[in-house]
Amino acid sequence: MRMHDFLIAAAALVLSATVSEAYAQDADAGKRVFNRCRACHAVEPGQNKVGPSLAGVIGRKAGTVEGFSYTDAMKSSDITWTEENLKKYLQDPKGFIPGNRMVFPGLKDEEDLTNLIAFLKTSS
Ligand code: HEC
Repeated sequence: MRMHDFLIAAAALVLSATVSEAYAQDADAGKRVFNRCRACHAVEPGQNKVGPSLAGVIGRKAGTVEGFSYTDAMKSSDITWTEENLKKYLQDPKGFIPGNRMVFPGLKDEEDLTNLIAFLKTSS
């Protein structure tokens, strides 16, 4: 391998290691934030509790988990759980989808939210 190629390969390796490490930390922190959701949600597919399973929630249409009985408000919300919509909902569930019955006061801390979403992505 020529020196030039070697340097590029080494730089790419360092970069990808750094990125995946930062990602893992976020998801780890997010897993702790998820403790606030655990009473009502699981991240295992098909496991509905008081709330629907959140396995693969990122990119899913709201109100579509099989076998979970949603409110009409949730079913007719016509929302897709993009990261942005998920953030808005989790900051203020009642404000974002009036009439939905998730009893959660809202998560205000940006960093907690970002980490939580990183964690939810690992289950998607
Ligand atoms: C006290 C129970 C409870 C807690 C705590 C709770 N949820 Fe929920 N969640 C629900 C219920 C019930 C619904 C269904 C609402 C409806 O149908 O109106 C729901 C719905 C959702 C949905 C929509 C899912 C879908 O399939 O469309 C998401 C996303 C969600 N919750 C995420 C969270 C996250 C993340 C947390 C923690 C920060 C959390 N919830 C905390 C009970 C809860």
